[in-house]
Amino acid sequence: MSLGPHLNSFMAKNRFNQSWLHDHINDPYVKLAQRDGYRARAAYKLKEIDEQDKLIRPGQVIVDLGAAPGSWSQYARNKLAASPHRAGGGIDGTIIALDMLPMEPIADVTFIQGDFRDDVILAQLEAAVDGRAVDLVISDMAPNLSGVAVADAARIEHVCDLALEFAQDHLTPQGALLVKCFHGSGYSQIVERFKQQFKTVAARKPKASRDKSSETFILGRVLKHPRA
Ligand SMILES: C[S@@+](CC[C@H](N)C(=O)[O-])C[C@H]1O[C@@H](n2cnc3c(N)ncnc32)[C@H](O)[C@@H]1O
Repeated sequence: MSLGPHLNSFMAKNRFNQSWLHDHINDPYVKLAQRDGYRARAAYKLKEIDEQDKLIRPGQVIVDLGAAPGSWSQYARNKLAASPHRAGGGIDGTIIALDMLPMEPIADVTFIQGDFRDDVILAQLEAAVDGRAVDLVISDMAPNLSGVAVADAARIEHVCDLALEFAQDHLTPQGALLVKCFHGSGYSQIVERFKQQFKTVAARKPKASRDKSSETFILGRVLKHPRA
């Protein structure tokens, strides 16, 4: 018996939701995030990359793109707060977070709500940076995907390109850019652009990144052509 296309689609979606829920409840990183007070399991992706690559250090200026709900900013804040120079509270450094969605405040983190692709929002971010050289740009931005491969690849490339442009304009010569992208969505073109811009480029797939997901992080370090 045919259930009709709408019911079939509803059941397929529901099965997907049940399987997602099952994975989520049994996910060790979800449990760790609850234990450690992180707003999302994504914190452990940044943590693993940071532990491998030593990205976050006291005194840095850090820009977190696509920051909501805020676990990457929380992790970065914890690292800067752990500085021995700041026993009295606060952080040794600056964190500026941006997202098109609202985000619950995080102490010592400046938040800008808006779309990174919007020039007005970019200007707000640049005003918050206030001429300082940025040490680290981290981007976990994930554009809404349509399911149409070519259109989705273009969206992902676009936000990666904007992050690369922002990094070129604001990073210190030794600075680093960590960006989420997806295998198969213009991935090799994005890596190529990283190689044009950075002396070292590496792909990172932290354990907390689900195996099923094609998500991969690209890390570029040390600008080839820093600002004068
Ligand atoms: C996977 S979530 C980020 C999770 C975050 N790193 C954390 O640890 O809590 C991706 C975020 O990117 C944001 N985003 C996607 N495209 C954006 C854009 N063009 N401008 C600003 N934020 C964007 C989404 O609103 C979403 O909150």
